[in-house]
Amino acid sequence: MDANPARVTFESASARAAGILAAMPLEQKIVKCPLCGWQGFRHADLIEHFTLEHPGCAAPVRVTLDVNGKLCELVIEPQMTLKEVLQFRLGLTGAKEMCNRGACGSCTVIMDGRPALSCNVLASECEGKRIETVEGIAVIPKWKPLIDAYCKWDAMQCGYCTPGFLVAAKALIDRNPSPAVDEINAALSGNICICGTYPRHAQAIIEAVEFMAAEYAGASERGDG
Ligand code: FES
Ligand code: FES
Repeated sequence: MDANPARVTFESASARAAGILAAMPLEQKIVKCPLCGWQGFRHADLIEHFTLEHPGCAAPVRVTLDVNGKLCELVIEPQMTLKEVLQFRLGLTGAKEMCNRGACGSCTVIMDGRPALSCNVLASECEGKRIETVEGIAVIPKWKPLIDAYCKWDAMQCGYCTPGFLVAAKALIDRNPSPAVDEINAALSGNICICGTYPRHAQAIIEAVEFMAAEYAGASERGDG
């Protein structure tokens, strides 16, 4: 039995992420006016409500977002950022808000394979893009070595910035499976950690990629890779 049941492990993180992903609403049953609270069932009714009650105001828009491989149909305010939609509409709180102005990396997600700052992009502009969040990464067994290495090397203190670092690290490993330390530092240079955990990230990522490479080589030899 684990001496410290509160300790984060891949298994505990993965189980929690799986629960959050299962609860993600894939469609919106009720549409609500953000200005007066009026409620209806269809986007078209909300548009009509805006025309009658709030002429001149920008009405909510309908978007379909591909988040962690699931298509989510939502009605959102046009000024909502991707981070706000992930948090407030989909219940995905892994992407954290620190600066809310594109300067700290704590809200990093992956969009079409590249790291993106979710506080800095309008959700309405994300249709047709493939969005991955830390929750989606945490349920994929391939990334167990990365999460295990982060836990082992204590590459976190308060943990607030950690999802942003992990997502940026995953994006890096996807495009470069054996990054050197300077490449890791460059890839993570947009992520700020107020607790000062910087040296631990490169240690964790180097260990993770070495483990993953050994696993891959073993699987190839066994003929199941
Ligand atoms: S909260 Fe998005 S970059 Fe800081
Ligand atoms: S671990 Fe606290 S901000 Fe990075």
